[in-house]
Amino acid sequence: MSLRGFRPTDVPFVSALVADALREHYDPSLYQSLSTEWPSGFLVAADTTDVPVGFLLGVSQVDGEARILMFAVDRHHRTLGVGALMMTAFLDRCRARGFRRVTLEVRVSNATAIRFYTRFQFSVIDLLRAYYSDGENGYQMARDLR
Ligand SMILES: CC(C)(COP(=O)(O)OP(=O)(O)OC[C@H]1O[C@@H](n2cnc3c(N)ncnc32)[C@H](O)[C@@H]1OP(=O)(O)O)[C@@H](O)C(=O)NCCC(=O)NCCS
Repeated sequence: MSLRGFRPTDVPFVSALVADALREHYDPSLYQSLSTEWPSGFLVAADTTDVPVGFLLGVSQVDGEARILMFAVDRHHRTLGVGALMMTAFLDRCRARGFRRVTLEVRVSNATAIRFYTRFQFSVIDLLRAYYSDGENGYQMARDLR
């Protein structure tokens, strides 16, 4: 498994993973436009043949803070440490950029992801009512960086 930056040719994979794992649908042009401001905040995990198996898309919309907008690993490649690899690299990049805090949103029903984030020292800081397009509530989670 290797980590690399996002490429335009990754869009079909990323779109399919977002539909399957996150149950959301976005215009394909969104990924490229979100990656332009902070390209190294968009990590892709690829297998030995360079086929993507997961991605983490982080942006910085608030001064001194990063926000994880999307994070998913292909269902056939989960629980192998791919998510931890991406999260560890992402937090390192946030520190290198001098960010003091990282935030994210997660579905209240997504116990697997909430456990994962908790292991990475994120805590729930807010309840976001009807945050998702299907009406589900979300939690906002955050962690400080030092
Ligand atoms: C959340 C998500 C990205 C985690 O990715 P992942 O690659 O499965 O993550 P990891 O393999 O690093 O860790 C997952 C679990 O497997 C365990 N694990 C990691 N490597 C392992 C190994 N070699 N053997 C056994 N278990 C292992 C970890 O301990 C972890 O368990 P925990 O979270 O209960 O502590 C993935 O579950 C996913 O894509 N979910 C669907 C999309 C989603 O919910 N995204 C987040 C939306 S906010």
